Amino acid sequence: MHSVAIVFHSVTGTTRSLAQSIATGVRAEQIEALELEIFGADIQHGRYENTRLLDQIERADAVIFGSPTFMGSVTAQFKSFADASSERWTELRWADKFAAGFTIGSNYSGDQLSTIQYLGVLAAQHGMLWAGLDIAGGYDESGRNRLGAQSGLIACTTDAVVHPVDLQTAQYLGARVARLVKKYHSAG
Ligand SMILES: Cc1cc2nc3c(=O)[nH]c(=O)nc-3n(C[C@H](O)[C@H](O)[C@H](O)COP(=O)(O)O)c2cc1C
Repeated sequence: MHSVAIVFHSVTGTTRSLAQSIATGVRAEQIEALELEIFGADIQHGRYENTRLLDQIERADAVIFGSPTFMGSVTAQFKSFADASSERWTELRWADKFAAGFTIGSNYSGDQLSTIQYLGVLAAQHGMLWAGLDIAGGYDESGRNRLGAQSGLIACTTDAVVHPVDLQTAQYLGARVARLVKKYHSAG
């Protein structure tokens, strides 16, 4: 069965809520969703040591990376995971998988784009195929992609509760990546 891995770090749970909605969207397309959370406890002496999680990514057909925006970028814990992925990079073990990204911040324009761009660079380093968010900001009937980011899902919370429209957008992103996986494999 084809699968999409959702790899994320979350401290207060808002990024986790987005990850769960993404997983719902993936499953709605009859594709397996693997919710893989990055935990600070897996970092020993500054190094991310959870090789099982890295192996699970290797078996997935697509990876959706997520991190809260902290000081204009991914969290230190997410970066530690990304640095550990360099062991897979040398042999380009994640190449040709689809990739996408999501983030949340407490400001409407709190430099979340910088986080998405970092995730895109990480995917490019691995030879992955980046999928942006194909909902024209401001033109969706149900208001999804309310912050108008096309390169990935950008969410904003002002009260530590994820906006329901951001959750809907997350669900859409999961479904989109799952559909791309199906299309890619049916093309043979
Ligand atoms: C150390 C720190 C740095 C932060 N930096 C930013 C930032 O640069 N831009 C922003 O919009 N929000 C920033 N925030 C707010 C978080 O992104 C926001 O609370 C987010 O919802 C946390 O995600 P989580 O619930 O998954 O942990 C920061 C929060 C912390 C604790």
